[in-house]
Amino acid sequence: MSRIVLLNGEFLDAADAKLSIMDRGFLFADGIYEVSAVLNGRTIDNAAHLARLDRSLTEIDIPNPYSVAEWVAFQNALIARNGLTEGVVYIQVTRGVAEREFSYDEGLAPTVVMFTQVKNLLASKIATEGAKVITVPDLRWARRDIKSVALLPQVLAKQAAARAGAQEAWMVEDGFVTEGASSSAFIVTADGALVTRPFTRAVLPGITRLAITALIAETGLRLEERAFTVAEAQAAAEAFFTSASTFVAPVATLDGTPVGTGKPGPVATKLREIYIRQALAD
Ligand code: PDD
Repeated sequence: MSRIVLLNGEFLDAADAKLSIMDRGFLFADGIYEVSAVLNGRTIDNAAHLARLDRSLTEIDIPNPYSVAEWVAFQNALIARNGLTEGVVYIQVTRGVAEREFSYDEGLAPTVVMFTQVKNLLASKIATEGAKVITVPDLRWARRDIKSVALLPQVLAKQAAARAGAQEAWMVEDGFVTEGASSSAFIVTADGALVTRPFTRAVLPGITRLAITALIAETGLRLEERAFTVAEAQAAAEAFFTSASTFVAPVATLDGTPVGTGKPGPVATKLREIYIRQALAD
């Protein structure tokens, strides 16, 4: 199926969008990315995604090539040209093209790639049955707050999950869950706490996680921002994970152990429903 993509501000058929092999994104994973969900042809929580994009760029010293209004216009034009109603819009910015040297010229022009992907976000088997999750060691670098395209640890984690018949891998460091390979991790404790890691350099500041914790009043739970162990998660009343591409995804099993009833729990189900309702209404 043909797809219109954006390369450095130019709309092209995907087959005609060509990048230099000297692009530092390819040679060094010297770049960052963002993923915004699209429902009914409109982006969800997009201002926060574009703010995090700007922050990721600033943290690795790549100039932001566009204003927020320009990013939004490009995203909306791509969504329209591809007739996307449900899915995601992807942005990647790399430091640009140069002779291969680790250090870089400060004046390099960034490379910008944008494309859309069709995805079923609303009708999902994970939402109705819950996800199987495995745990893997967290092999990532020390700046996980930056949405870097250096995703090899997550690629390996997701492949290990797929091989195990699971849909997500939770990464573990020093005995504590950091986050999912591409999601923020939560548990609900028997005594009424919604537990998730605080935003430090150990995890990506998830945009969906922010939106979900803002809905805490709807759940009657109290928010506890702290790390939790795999054993605590397995014994929890519920567990779930959040991301732009899954919204709120209940966990059915963690390393083969049923969490709660082993079915989507009431808190995850309710938060998912409220989040989607608000997203559709905005
Ligand atoms: N991943 N943690 C990690 C490591 C992630 O890669 C993601 C998102 C999240 C959730 O963030 P948000 O709610 O802002 O999507 C947490 C995207 C979806 C991806 O890599 O495709």
